[in-house]
Amino acid sequence: MESAKKLVEAKVDGRDQIKLESLDSQSDGKNKVSFIGCFEFTQLVKNYRATFGNDVYKWPVPGGNSHAEMVIREFVLKLKGTWDYPYKDDEICHCRQVKTKTVDQAIVNGAHTYELASRWTGCSTACGTCKPDVEKIMAHQNDLNHDQTFF
Ligand code: FES
Repeated sequence: MESAKKLVEAKVDGRDQIKLESLDSQSDGKNKVSFIGCFEFTQLVKNYRATFGNDVYKWPVPGGNSHAEMVIREFVLKLKGTWDYPYKDDEICHCRQVKTKTVDQAIVNGAHTYELASRWTGCSTACGTCKPDVEKIMAHQNDLNHDQTFF
């Protein structure tokens, strides 16, 4: 019987990416982890490896709200099976046709206030119905209540 392949990844489009590829039979730290990105991101991944080892399943969840910490936090939470993204639809702002991913990526890239996220993406600039959902994503991505802060 062939084992199923597993892929866990987190990324900022066009900037940073970390992913784990493995067969289901490999849960012993021998998974293939690859990463690419900016200096800050790759340095943080290297710091994590140097401090916590190559078995990414044993990495603590990073706190902090730099883009590097957010991407690694998403990755580690996905590995732990506790990544629970608060908004599931593709489009978050129906008045301005703003994609959820656009708002998410703006937040990870530094739009850490609702006003900035709105200005950068155009979301929530009409009826405002989407504001609570934008704020949920913001709270989720900026949740600093985790194990480790490097910056
Ligand atoms: S749904 Fe976003 S402004 Fe109306």
